Amino acid sequence: MKLLLLGFGTVGQGFVQILRDKAHDLQARYDFAPRIVGVATRSRGILYCANGLDPAALLEAIKAGSLEHYPESAGLARDWSVERLISESGAEVLVDALPTDLVTGGASLPYAFAAIDAGMHLVFASKGAVAVGYDDLMRRSRAAGTRVLFEGSVMAGTPSLRLGMQALAGCTITAARGILNGTTNYILTAMEAGRSYADVLAEAQKLGYAEADPTADVDGWDAAGKAIIVSAALFGKPLALDQMDVHGISGLTAADIDAARASGERWKLIAHVTPEGGSVMPVRLPLSHPLANVSGTTNAITLTTDLLGDVTLIGAGAGGVQTGFAVLSDLIDLQRIIFKSAK
Ligand code: HSE
Repeated sequence: MKLLLLGFGTVGQGFVQILRDKAHDLQARYDFAPRIVGVATRSRGILYCANGLDPAALLEAIKAGSLEHYPESAGLARDWSVERLISESGAEVLVDALPTDLVTGGASLPYAFAAIDAGMHLVFASKGAVAVGYDDLMRRSRAAGTRVLFEGSVMAGTPSLRLGMQALAGCTITAARGILNGTTNYILTAMEAGRSYADVLAEAQKLGYAEADPTADVDGWDAAGKAIIVSAALFGKPLALDQMDVHGISGLTAADIDAARASGERWKLIAHVTPEGGSVMPVRLPLSHPLANVSGTTNAITLTTDLLGDVTLIGAGAGGVQTGFAVLSDLIDLQRIIFKSAK
């Protein structure tokens, strides 16, 4: 399977790290042997090689500061544009790990449309294009006979979307409720331990959990974008932002945290969606509530179904390798669906 990787930040590197470390296992167990033929970054270079780029060398180059440090090799090109990579590389799948833009979808959307036109399947780790352009992406990919997968856009590699779309197929899902932002949960957990909001936010940025612009995390927009994607995946139709009531945690003070604790409660930023609408807001939960005990960057989602009642999934919600795994899981799924060569 030939891949183009757009974006080589925390998530792109997490994905490539998995390919570097698990190549043998992936080949042996799943007959999965991807070849990254192109990598494009916004400011740290572009590489193309029809024979495939070496994951370890890619990681070393970016660690040294840019793809310029990737060693010379036969057939390597450094001067292609993203547009040329999409139209001429012969890649079968575009992996989008670009920074998220929840307002316009950012560069991801035009690249995605060009990739669909070139007959490529799409795997998104980023949220913007899926949240903003879901209907267009689905319509155009259906017409072109290609697939769009986006497990990594919600709860990193924890299979929240696959749970609803595949494992619970046959159930009617009427609502989803959960903790969908790792950064804010990390901040709330640390504030309870007495740390300051500003310190913990800076740490979350350093650890690669927060968005490039962390106001998206703390003001609730990241969780709202994910709630929109959950609504699209579960109900077939994404909610619009104006159907959502969105509040973040930036107004919560140490005194608010203490007051909740004194009442045997804990603040959590809870996203809630139904087919009719949704919300993201800080909520005080009793300590006995299952979501009250989800701490740090861990996320959780509860799906309300007709046949099983509530089903809750708890797992990693952010991080490079954790989200890189989502890309891997989508690619293995694509191989099973499309390439049909899984063992
Ligand atoms: N900034 C996001 C979060 C990253 O903290 O959950 C994962 O989407």
